[in-house]
Amino acid sequence: MIKAKDSIYKITPYIGGESTAKEGQRIIKLSSNEGAFGPSPMAVKAMQEAAKDMNRYPDSGCSALREALAKKNNISADSIVCGAGSDEIISLLCSAYAGDGDEVLYTAHGFLMYSISAKVAGATPVATPEKNLKADVDALIDAVTEKTKILFIANPNNPTGSYLKRAEIEDLHARLPKSVLLVLDAAYAEYVDDPDYTVGHDLVSQHDNIVVTRTFSKAYGMGGVRLGWAHGPDHVVDVLNRVRGPFNVSAEAQAAGVAALQDDDFLKMTLESNKKCLKMTADSLEALGVKVYPSAGNFVLVDFGNADKAENIRLALKDEGIFIRQMGGYGLPSCMRITIGTGEEMELVIEAIKGYLGSHV
Ligand SMILES: Cc1ncc(COP(=O)(O)O)c(C=O)c1O
Repeated sequence: MIKAKDSIYKITPYIGGESTAKEGQRIIKLSSNEGAFGPSPMAVKAMQEAAKDMNRYPDSGCSALREALAKKNNISADSIVCGAGSDEIISLLCSAYAGDGDEVLYTAHGFLMYSISAKVAGATPVATPEKNLKADVDALIDAVTEKTKILFIANPNNPTGSYLKRAEIEDLHARLPKSVLLVLDAAYAEYVDDPDYTVGHDLVSQHDNIVVTRTFSKAYGMGGVRLGWAHGPDHVVDVLNRVRGPFNVSAEAQAAGVAALQDDDFLKMTLESNKKCLKMTADSLEALGVKVYPSAGNFVLVDFGNADKAENIRLALKDEGIFIRQMGGYGLPSCMRITIGTGEEMELVIEAIKGYLGSHV
């Protein structure tokens, strides 16, 4: 049998959120941090229009989309590279900057794709301890060695929901050797409304070793389209453009992205609903005696106290067509991550958990 590189067999494949229910059963999928309201109708229309020309290859440079992103975020279009989801950007960064003998740093409960992409590149992923399920700047700096090539921080982090404030990011960057690329993964940035938070675009412009990654998969409700992007210094943009496929973002995705950026009302409605439903969910679950970690994203991390109980609750909910995500892969086996859906969906999930807890005292 032809074998791939040894390091590839050390990878545990990423398992996506479950969503297969019994026939005819209503599905409430709260297992993948997807947008609760579908995509913007403007994005759907633009995609349908673009589909008429699917015999043509897409614009390799994603020009219109980069221009739209640049305008929206007050940055230069030349500092943007688009990808098939931010997953692709993460993977491209790892394969371009890290290889055999190199290390890729991230935090203990950081997003799983950092370690998978590091291993694909042949590098060693190094996870540092967190403090109260939040990235610990001291631990990260202590773990930096001459082999460290990239440091990934999901800000806010999935699945913990915690984030580093601007001052903490600045402190981390100031103490990091300039030879290490600091990647601020801002997949959930739209949801954060703390004035002390920074997505990091201003930091990219000021420094030579910071990259911000973003996505249309969460607040824009476009996970199925696979559209993400990176904002970085010229030398990183140059590298990403060398390693990416020439047509890595479909014409349909580009058109949908441009249209989605114009639909401010949809984004506003999504963010307002998330804020309201997140609070309602956290308050209701805490009232049931369950530990809920504070979250700045579109999900909550809930600790049911022990792994068996958490798994039984997941299975009981699944039986009712409600899918939440187990967190064993993130080293948090007693926890479940619940995506914030619509108000009605959250009421149903709370009722289901209440029902389970009431009948299993
Ligand atoms: C922290 C974080 N980064 C990146 C991604 C990848 O998003 P996408 O590839 O859909 O852009 C996710 C998806 O769940 C995430 O949680």
